[in-house]
Amino acid sequence: MIQRNRIRFTYRTLRAFAFGGMVLLAAGFALLPTAYADVSAQPPPPPPLPSQFLSTDVIQYQGEGSPDSAFCLGCHENEYLQLTFASGETMSVTVDAEAYAASVHGQHGTEGYRCIRCHDNIREYPHPEVTASTPRELTIELSTSCARCHTDKYDETLDSVHLTAMINGNQQSAVCSDCHTGHEVQRLSDETTNVSLPESNQIGAEMCQTCHAEIYEVYATSVHGESLLTGNADVPACGDCHGSHSVRGPSAEPFRLFSPQICATCHADETLMAKYDISTDVFDTYVADFHGTTVTLFQQTAPDQAVNSPVCADCHGVHNIMAVSDPESPVIKDNLVSTCQQCHPDATANFSGAWLSHYRPDFENAPLVAAAETIYAILIPTVIGAMGVFVASDIYRRWRNRRRASKGAQK
Ligand code: HEC
Ligand code: HEC
Ligand code: HEC
Ligand code: HEC
Ligand code: HEC
Ligand code: HEC
Ligand code: HEC
Ligand code: HEC
Ligand code: HEC
Repeated sequence: MIQRNRIRFTYRTLRAFAFGGMVLLAAGFALLPTAYADVSAQPPPPPPLPSQFLSTDVIQYQGEGSPDSAFCLGCHENEYLQLTFASGETMSVTVDAEAYAASVHGQHGTEGYRCIRCHDNIREYPHPEVTASTPRELTIELSTSCARCHTDKYDETLDSVHLTAMINGNQQSAVCSDCHTGHEVQRLSDETTNVSLPESNQIGAEMCQTCHAEIYEVYATSVHGESLLTGNADVPACGDCHGSHSVRGPSAEPFRLFSPQICATCHADETLMAKYDISTDVFDTYVADFHGTTVTLFQQTAPDQAVNSPVCADCHGVHNIMAVSDPESPVIKDNLVSTCQQCHPDATANFSGAWLSHYRPDFENAPLVAAAETIYAILIPTVIGAMGVFVASDIYRRWRNRRRASKGAQK
């Protein structure tokens, strides 16, 4: 959709240039005999606006009931229509009627939603005075109209980083129409089943790209992003890790602390991972390891505190996660020491070599650990079992002795 606007814009610009060029050329030929005369050609005058604008009367909808879209579009299809803010800044208020008609709202019911379903304060021309002082302020203001019908989505955004940033005065943060547009809103889930459309992941990532271009570029070359761009809906898009409406990020702890659980939604899923022949032991082995144990403890007891033990992303990267066979991967043998050194500055090859990674200790990967575990597995139940028997027999002996003694005293 953004693409389409861009194309329209370039088309218009090209047309304007071509027209301008022709005018200049014509003017040039006309002025040729009078060389050195004033050659600054005047820009062509803007075409006249619809006749309504020449009158000072209030222009009202003439049909029955409330104004329909055709009434609004009668003026708003004019491609020269502009709004001038108090500051003198101008913006185009042209509306692409075809694009609107193709949008999910333009398709609603038999004739599509009327414009006033969102612009409910506008019934006639002149319109109520515009209070916004910049185009950005107007966008933010008009975007509040979405909440009226999609209350659930609006509620989800209440504790998001975006709305929080907006409330704190960052006007560059995202509102509904930044991601969905105002007039070209696309369907993202199936009309009857409500299940997300397969392409919604990719469309979602492109929405984020508008403002987070650098992260998107990195993500697009990661094992997840590369796969997404081939149309694979199994891999996480931005929204799967951060949320699309209740967007969370590292500035809102405990996001990082609980990030292993995000990875686990897929990486502990047997059916999903079998498709890619990726081990699902990664989460369990991580939690069983010293690092994961510490992180789990923080999750349970001190979720608001920063933890210095590594989460998945500290070893694998965040937006640049790679296949473990990739020579650039931070977890292949050659790069692993420097990955550990982020936090264990004195680590050597032996240090990382001695660590079990995600392997469950078995006789192939870690024979010593496996042997020790096996011995413990036999020894501990045996010792505890023997002690149990000993204690029980001791209690029985004492009980029997006491009974004998009391029987003896009764006699
Ligand atoms: C007679 C022509 C005309 C008609 C009819 C008209 N508009 Fe406008 N509209 C304009 C012009 C011109 C502007 C630019 C600002 C101004 O001059 O008020 C504008 C600005 C706007 C704006 C942006 C500024 C604001 O007020 O928020 C919106 C939104 C808008 N119109 C919506 C509508 C809707 C919805 C309808 C139909 C109910 C409609 N317009 C009907 C001419 C018209
Ligand atoms: C689903 C809600 C919705 C409907 C329906 C809708 N608009 Fe809008 N409109 C918006 C939002 C949100 C914006 C601000 C978007 C932006 O600035 O990118 C907007 C912006 C505008 C603007 C300001 C210029 C601009 O493009 O930012 C005009 C003019 C306008 N709408 C006219 C119309 C007309 C005419 C119709 C009917 C054909 C219509 N709108 C239907 C939500 C809607
Ligand atoms: C007047 C009520 C109304 C308003 C206001 C409204 N919507 Fe909708 N919207 C709907 C309805 C109803 C549907 C479902 C359309 C259908 O199924 O025919 C819908 C569908 C959608 C969808 C597609 C949903 C899906 O399941 O894929 C998106 C996205 C959406 N709206 C976003 C917005 C945004 C963004 C705004 C503000 C610019 C907005 N809506 C304003 C009523 C509204
Ligand atoms: C930062 C980008 C972003 C913002 C801001 C945003 N959305 Fe969305 N929205 C998405 C993405 C991505 C999807 C599709 C994936 C999903 O449903 O999580 C979506 C899906 C939807 C849907 C379809 C729901 C469905 O069941 O699939 C509706 C309706 C919707 N948004 C409305 C809104 C409204 C209303 C707002 C403003 C309060 C809003 N969105 C703000 C990105 C955004
Ligand atoms: C596999 C999960 C995952 C995916 C997919 C993902 N992120 Fe992240 N993102 C994270 C994690 C985890 C962090 C926190 C990293 C940290 O603690 O330093 C983060 C941090 C961020 C941050 C804040 C820190 C920074 O680097 O500026 C932003 C913004 C962000 N992500 C946006 C995005 C966008 C946009 C996309 C899609 C192009 C995306 N993320 C895809 C997991 C993900
Ligand atoms: C209109 C621009 C815009 C769009 C579109 C947008 N963002 Fe953002 N986002 C921002 C801004 C601005 C901030 C900075 C807020 C702050 O730190 O004050 C931000 C912050 C974030 C953060 C928080 C980083 C942190 O430090 O905690 C995450 C995560 C994030 N965005 C993810 C996303 C995702 C995911 C999408 C797409 C679904 C998206 N954004 C779409 C503008 C945008
Ligand atoms: C201390 C560093 C470290 C942490 C923390 C870590 N990993 Fe790993 N991960 C590795 C190493 C090293 C390998 C390579 C193992 C090998 O030799 O194949 C690996 C391999 C993987 C693989 C590939 C497995 C396969 O079958 O190909 C996945 C998937 C993975 N990790 C996911 C995770 C997830 C999810 C988490 C968090 C729950 C996590 N990792 C935490 C270091 C780490
Ligand atoms: C929405 C599901 C999903 C989430 C969430 C997710 N992944 Fe993945 N991940 C996948 C899928 C599917 C693949 C296989 C992609 C392919 O090969 O096309 C994959 C591949 C990987 C690989 C490469 C394994 C290999 O083949 O060597 C690593 C490493 C990895 N993910 C780590 C992580 C980490 C770390 C997180 C959390 C920060 C995470 N993933 C979150 C689905 C997910
Ligand atoms: C993000 C920082 C971070 C990274 C990266 C990291 N560690 Fe650790 N590691 C810690 C912290 C903190 C502790 C102590 C607390 C704990 O056990 O979680 C620790 C503890 C250990 C221990 C337990 C013995 C000890 O020294 O206390 C070993 C062994 C270890 N790490 C190995 C590794 C290996 C091997 C790697 C690389 C594959 C690695 N670590 C990467 C932070 C990290």
